[in-house]
This record gives sequence, structure tokens and C-alpha cells, in this order.
Amino acid sequence: MTRRAPLLVALLAVAAAALAACGKEGITLNAKRGDTAQIKHGAQLFAARCAGCHTLGAAGTHGSATKVNDRERTDGPNLDQRKEDLNSVLFAIRNGGFSGAIMPQNIVVGPDAQAVATFVSRYAGTQAKNPKSPPPAPATGG
Ligand code: HEC
Repeated sequence: MTRRAPLLVALLAVAAAALAACGKEGITLNAKRGDTAQIKHGAQLFAARCAGCHTLGAAGTHGSATKVNDRERTDGPNLDQRKEDLNSVLFAIRNGGFSGAIMPQNIVVGPDAQAVATFVSRYAGTQAKNPKSPPPAPATGG
């Protein structure tokens, strides 16, 4: 905890600045050059459909649990802390996460799913300690 405190303070400062700037947190896509319309569309969809359960700074969302005693069953992984590739995100969207247990399936489909996955694969993992999450575990039939 103490080790991460300075980063947390920095993030809160950024969030506060965003709040002050426009009344609510927004999408901070100016972080990278070369963002396409598809990626912006994906960020907006992410903010609208995935925000409740996932934290992803680039979309201004904080749905993941931040404290152990604040955790709810539906809280999804913090995507700032996990690097995801395009296919993993598409898999998670179709399957409902990697386990299929909690996250709803097909919240976005077709080109929308592609846009969200492209956005997430580009922006997830900016605070990752490990470059990538393990690949999806094989289904156990449960
Ligand atoms: C109702 C809450 C909920 C919503 C809404 C939700 N998710 Fe999830 N998501 C979860 C949970 C819980 C997990 C982890 C458990 C699992 O993998 O089954 C997860 C897992 C994931 C993973 C795998 C992360 C990893 O490395 O393990 C990805 C990627 C993901 N979600 C993307 C999305 C995207 C994109 C959307 C919006 C289209 C979305 N989620 C909407 C709850 C949610």
C-alpha cells in the first residue's frame, strides 16, 4: 500500500483536475496520438457499458474494487493493471469474462465489440506490473 501511495495521489490529482474541468470525468484519449474514430467510439462504449465493473483510466471509469472491504462480487479486474490483447478482450466480451460466471455476455457485438476491444487492447495495462494476464483457463463445464 505505502509503495503505491504516491501513484494513487497522482491519479486522484488527475481525476480531480478532470472533474474540475468538465463537471464529470471524461475520456482522456488525447493520451496517445493516432487514435482513430473506431478507438474513440470504443472508449465511449466502454464508458457507457463497462464502466460499472471495470476501472480503466483512459475511459475515466472506476468500477473495479479499490479496497478489499469495498469489493462486490461483480467488480471486474482493474484494466489499468492488466494488459489485454485484442483477442482476449473479444473473448471476454463474447464469453462474459474469462470464467463466464459474472460478466454479462455480448454487452457489445459486431463492430461495437471490435471497437471496444481495440480501445481496451490499446489502453489497458498502463499500470501493469506483469505485461499480460494469463490466457483464459479452459472451461470446466461448471
Ligand atoms: C456486471 C459487471 C461487468 C460488466 C458490465 C463488464 N464486466 Fe468485464 N468482467 C467482469 C468480471 C467480474 C470479470 C472477471 C471474472 C471473469 O473473468 O469471469 C471480468 C473480466 C473481464 C476481462 C478479462 C480481464 C482479465 O484479464 O481477467 C475483460 C477483458 C473484460 N472483462 C472486459 C469487459 C468489457 C470490454 C466490458 C464492456 C463491454 C465489460 N468487461 C463489462 C465484470 C463485468
